[in-house]
Amino acid sequence: MKILVLGSGAGGGCPQWNCNCAVCASARNGSRMIRPRTQSSIAVSPDGKRWVLLNASPDIGQQLRVQPILHPKQGLRDTPIKAVVLMDAQVDHATGLLSLREGPPIELYVTPCVFEDLTTGLPILSVLEHYCGVRWHLLPVAGEQRIAEFMIDGFETLRFRAVAIPGKAPPFSPHRHDPKVGDNIALEVTDLQTGKRMFYSPGLAEVGPNELEWMRGADCLLVDGTFWSEDEMVKAGLGTKYAADMGHLPQQSTPERRGMMDALDETGAARKILIHINNSNPILDDYGPERAELAHRGIEVAHDGMEISI
Ligand code: MLT
Ligand code: MN
Ligand code: ZN
Repeated sequence: MKILVLGSGAGGGCPQWNCNCAVCASARNGSRMIRPRTQSSIAVSPDGKRWVLLNASPDIGQQLRVQPILHPKQGLRDTPIKAVVLMDAQVDHATGLLSLREGPPIELYVTPCVFEDLTTGLPILSVLEHYCGVRWHLLPVAGEQRIAEFMIDGFETLRFRAVAIPGKAPPFSPHRHDPKVGDNIALEVTDLQTGKRMFYSPGLAEVGPNELEWMRGADCLLVDGTFWSEDEMVKAGLGTKYAADMGHLPQQSTPERRGMMDALDETGAARKILIHINNSNPILDDYGPERAELAHRGIEVAHDGMEISI
């Protein structure tokens, strides 16, 4: 299975258009080795020819333009992207659907909660009915049902499993303050020919026993790398919200909460990769001490264009 990182940044990307934080400023002036990053999305493929998009970022136009493998190959209008799966209804994960409106009807795999958000608070799917249209494939992660196994037409060698994870519905969601099973999912993709397995969870509020069980022994983890520390936004003067308020588990542990680095240690996964990295996060400096600590612990940092083969 091939995995292509289209966008490794969190909402806003890096540098963010209006941000002068230490990381964004250094990315602009080149004083530190900080690569630009677009917003959160990856693609998976069994053969490098047909791809499933996992999240559709508002930067998708640029992401597809710079990836020859995702260019149209035959006929006048064509795309190797055959289906889209969304992990949630957040702006940085869903609004790229609008940029796919020139193509065929979008084969879209989302939970009932995400479908509801994208037809009410942020009615992208209703808008798309006036363009390409959307064929909704229901991922039954809702109520009591926390796991849904599914296949995607044309991808018979891949098995997909959606799993409910702790998180929050987006600010515009009718149930922002009343979290529901299916607001946020992670996705496991297994290559049935090789048995290799990846686990993708760009927004993960906690790594509890359930999440750990999914992550254990994976051939590749691509998980929430948003923040280095719990109070990163507050300390940098960028906002008033803590990582926990935003539904993200930071890399560093505190006495109250075990962070992502310690959680990853426990997984024994072959590759441990952080993705969806906010522009405030010092791990974006390729030569900074935080990056060195990650490297020491065998944890990688995703970058745009990163290719993974498992
Ligand atoms: C988040 O995951 O918290 C976001 O990146 C916020 C956003 O998209 O603005
Ligand atoms: Mn995000
Ligand atoms: Zn910034």
